Amino acid sequence: MISGLVLERHDRSNAQAQSCAMKVMDRAFDPAFGEAWTASQLAGIMALQGTWLTLAKLDAATLGFCLTRSIFDEAELLLLAVDQGWRGRGIGSSLIRDCLTVARGRGIKSVHLEVRATNNAVQLYNKSGFNHVNTRRDYYRGADGQLYDAMSLRLDL
Ligand SMILES: CC(C)(COP(=O)(O)OP(=O)(O)OC[C@H]1O[C@@H](n2cnc3c(N)ncnc32)[C@H](O)[C@@H]1OP(=O)(O)O)[C@@H](O)C(=O)NCCC(=O)NCCS
Repeated sequence: MISGLVLERHDRSNAQAQSCAMKVMDRAFDPAFGEAWTASQLAGIMALQGTWLTLAKLDAATLGFCLTRSIFDEAELLLLAVDQGWRGRGIGSSLIRDCLTVARGRGIKSVHLEVRATNNAVQLYNKSGFNHVNTRRDYYRGADGQLYDAMSLRLDL
């Protein structure tokens, strides 16, 4: 864990927090895979009840974020990203741990997610306790039109 790292949670629309997340989003995801969301997609989901956005901040800088949505007793971890220069230092793991802590506190029974099958993040999710439940063929469309399978992962709390 990086000394001074603060996890800042937002439960409802917050233009400044969303703008911080978008700065990471625009840099963190390789456009080749079509995984990043637009600002309007992020704004749309933040307007829905049960969504929360957690920013990982060091002083004024946002180094990463995690976006989760819950419906009744289930949650979906929608997006997780850490700035390139700060990877491999436990920020992604901290964001996942925080997501699970919040979910438990809200009485959520299971968390699921979709991740590109060839994304190294699969290892991180497995280490964090998620298990493979399904593969969705051709779920992601890359910038050049190539299709990529998604793995559906699930963690029971
Ligand atoms: C996935 C991501 C959030 C991980 O963030 P991070 O801060 O580097 O994660 P951590 O430092 O907590 O990594 C913990 C473990 O995950 C695994 N891991 C994470 N990223 C990895 C990578 N690129 N390659 C291989 N293993 C990786 C490692 O096993 C690591 O364990 P270790 O420290 O014992 O080696 C980051 O790589 C990222 O932003 N990727 C681009 C966006 C993305 O694809 N998000 C996931 C889909 S929404």
